[in-house]
Amino acid sequence: MLSDCIKQAVEVLREGGLVAMPTETVYGLAADAKNPEAIKKIFQAKGRPADHPLIAHIAHISQLHEWAIDISDKAMLLAKAFWPGPLTLILKKAPGVSSMITGGQDTIGVRIPRHPIAQALLTAFGSAVVAPSANRFGRISPTTVMAVQEELGDQVGCILDGGQCEVGVESTIVDVSSNELRILRPGMITAQQIEAVLHEHLSLQKNNVPRVAGALDSHYAPVTPVKLVESAQLLNMLSSLSNAQLPVAVMTYSFAFDQQGVLCQMMSADPVNYAHDLYQVLRELDHQQVKQILVEAVPDTPEWSAVADRLRRAAFCS
Ligand code: TXA
Ligand code: MG
Repeated sequence: MLSDCIKQAVEVLREGGLVAMPTETVYGLAADAKNPEAIKKIFQAKGRPADHPLIAHIAHISQLHEWAIDISDKAMLLAKAFWPGPLTLILKKAPGVSSMITGGQDTIGVRIPRHPIAQALLTAFGSAVVAPSANRFGRISPTTVMAVQEELGDQVGCILDGGQCEVGVESTIVDVSSNELRILRPGMITAQQIEAVLHEHLSLQKNNVPRVAGALDSHYAPVTPVKLVESAQLLNMLSSLSNAQLPVAVMTYSFAFDQQGVLCQMMSADPVNYAHDLYQVLRELDHQQVKQILVEAVPDTPEWSAVADRLRRAAFCS
């Protein structure tokens, strides 16, 4: 029964263990945010550098003041508009918040996830958990239980099965810790939606100094090399591949392609559906023993910004 699973997961958290928790974005690797030994296990399990800050996940907005101070009216507007949901707010940290969570910075990332199992876990636990995506450092975030097992299986005390994640890419991160609001990581809550709530224009921070692990260029990468190709060049490129360069996989959204040695994965032409499938498809293609994954570049429009960002990072090292 689900409630038994939640009870067991709460026990694991209370004992300082790690729980894989489904959220609407991606699966998280959760630990008690007030237990330094438990937090240490997250860094060990992921192989994540200690100075990369973690997001605190809470069940209810009434818990926010335990973790953050100087919360501006604009921050509250965003919280009320989008929580529970795929938005992380970067706020000034409250005194006493462990520097293990904040990576030594004076700010903290907080979000209220809307996945019913995350909500049930956080409510039953009664306090915050810190939860990065449940993958090894630098790899693709998991959006299914199988993917969590593949990434971290034996390192997790308990895995809660919440099915495939609804959104499929990580939360939008907005820095509201100063007067100049910035989007640090694009996500399914778009700049326009945020601007519509605030009635002001936001900048998308590039090459930001604040440490956002997802802002490392090489983040979210499969093992197989990924190459982004403009639609107009893709057909030419595919037909000019030599036998030695095959097989390849190709991810398209505007046309299907049938050629020996080319595994064509047709994606949705809708950015929300594309995002939902993106990590799972990359993970599956990564298992196919192809030499390259060629990806049709997506439109350069605001509604595609989260997908474009993750594809750019997946391709960076390749
Ligand atoms: O959708 C999500 O946000 C998922 C689910 C599990 O909630 N979590 C997630 O966590 O993506 P993680 O650790 O993989 O990415 C969180 C990002 C990191 O890039 C981290 O650097 C950034 O949030 N972050 C956390 N606290 C921050 C802070 N105080 N200042 C700047 N960036 C921060
Ligand atoms: Mg991550």
